[in-house]
Amino acid sequence: MAITVLVGSQYGDEGKGKMVDYLAKDVDFVSRFQGGDNAGHTVINDYGIFKMHIVPCGVFTPGVINLIGTGTVVNPDSLIEELDAIEAAGVDTSLLYLSERAHLILPYHLELDAAMEENGGIGTTKRGVGQAYAFKILRKNPRAGDLRDLDELERIIDSAKVAGLAPNLNYDIPREKLETWAKRLVPMLVDPLEMVHAQIDGGKNLMFEGQLALLKDIDLGIYPYVTGSHTTAAYAAVSGGFSPKLISRIIGVVKAFTSAVGDGSFPTEMSDAESVPLRGTGENPDDEYGARTGRSRRLGWLDIPSLKFATKINGFDALALTKMDKLDELREIKVCTHYTTDSTEPVYKIFKGWLSDTSKCRTYAELPSEAKDYVEFIESELNVPIRYIGNGPARADVIDRM
Ligand code: GDP
Ligand code: IMO
Ligand code: MG
Repeated sequence: MAITVLVGSQYGDEGKGKMVDYLAKDVDFVSRFQGGDNAGHTVINDYGIFKMHIVPCGVFTPGVINLIGTGTVVNPDSLIEELDAIEAAGVDTSLLYLSERAHLILPYHLELDAAMEENGGIGTTKRGVGQAYAFKILRKNPRAGDLRDLDELERIIDSAKVAGLAPNLNYDIPREKLETWAKRLVPMLVDPLEMVHAQIDGGKNLMFEGQLALLKDIDLGIYPYVTGSHTTAAYAAVSGGFSPKLISRIIGVVKAFTSAVGDGSFPTEMSDAESVPLRGTGENPDDEYGARTGRSRRLGWLDIPSLKFATKINGFDALALTKMDKLDELREIKVCTHYTTDSTEPVYKIFKGWLSDTSKCRTYAELPSEAKDYVEFIESELNVPIRYIGNGPARADVIDRM
């Protein structure tokens, strides 16, 4: 039995989806443990190209049980749309389950998110994620299990309305819509504690898929420009309902440069001119545009102090360094090694680019020496082995250094 937790270590979009899809072959169970359909986890494999929003990226691997876990917030319309898309591509969803304890994102949460964004927002994905979590904390939100009893679901929604939470919102959801949700999602409901502990007791291998990343954690990130959930590895144990002592391995996904969507501090942000070669046009699935909103991502250089922070908080056992191939054409690559003594300005070390195509390399030995210098510098700064190197967007584009 082993429990692996995989999380983002920057501002999100590090390539978590691709890594979970790649690693799912080694596990029996995958669970998304926090966040909602604000996620856009890109997966490219034999089934096609997918931007996964709430369904765990282990769903493409036959025989793997997938659980949308307790710590998530789930928009039923969005989940049904995602199910339709993957089922149409021939993916078997019969082992995909939904925790009865996960909370629902309802249309009025989206309405509130949009209204808040119009009045001094932080640049959310407008999926109502933080708003659903807020109603959960206020104990005025229905859970997925409430879809089993629509009268009870309506009573909970009414209790939020009567309590005067954002009174201008439209709390009315047509009964037919609730029935559509129930018909599709009730068969997927499970008691998550029973399921997770059966896996643990049965000696299975479990993986927990994080959403977003440390710098957007509600407590430890760049508040208020953060998401509504805990993006740290420790939260996998809370969401999964098991002792944190059982976590065997924590993998941090690090993009070979940095990107962020939304507002907030980003000290190593590049100039527009520097970002052009990395951004792409939006035509390729690995161009730098948000997988959820299509927004152009803000790009920057690698930030070692911030990765040290992510390492300290999460306790990474191994790293997956993704998008190395995107640096192939750069003459110079900057890495922020520290900040000036007043903590304001990043100080950069400049690496010589390797100016060659690394996308066909299948072993570490095949990488050009300048690329190895880059990898080994990051390893030595963080004191964590870089076990996986991503050199293309598809499932197969991973160098495993085992
Ligand atoms: P996630 O949210 O962490 O799952 O990451 P996203 O899917 O939002 O963003 C990562 C982007 O990088 C996607 O477009 C992936 O297809 C792409 N990607 C992931 N790993 C690699 C890699 O090693 N090389 C290249 N070229 N693209 C990658
Ligand atoms: P994945 O899982 C990148 C950002 C938003 C905004 C902030 C809060 O694909 O890495 P929210 O909608 O969560 O209330 O927005 O977080 N954000 C993401 N940025 N990747 C994501 O997910 C994101 N999910 C939310 O842009 O700054
Ligand atoms: Mg993403």
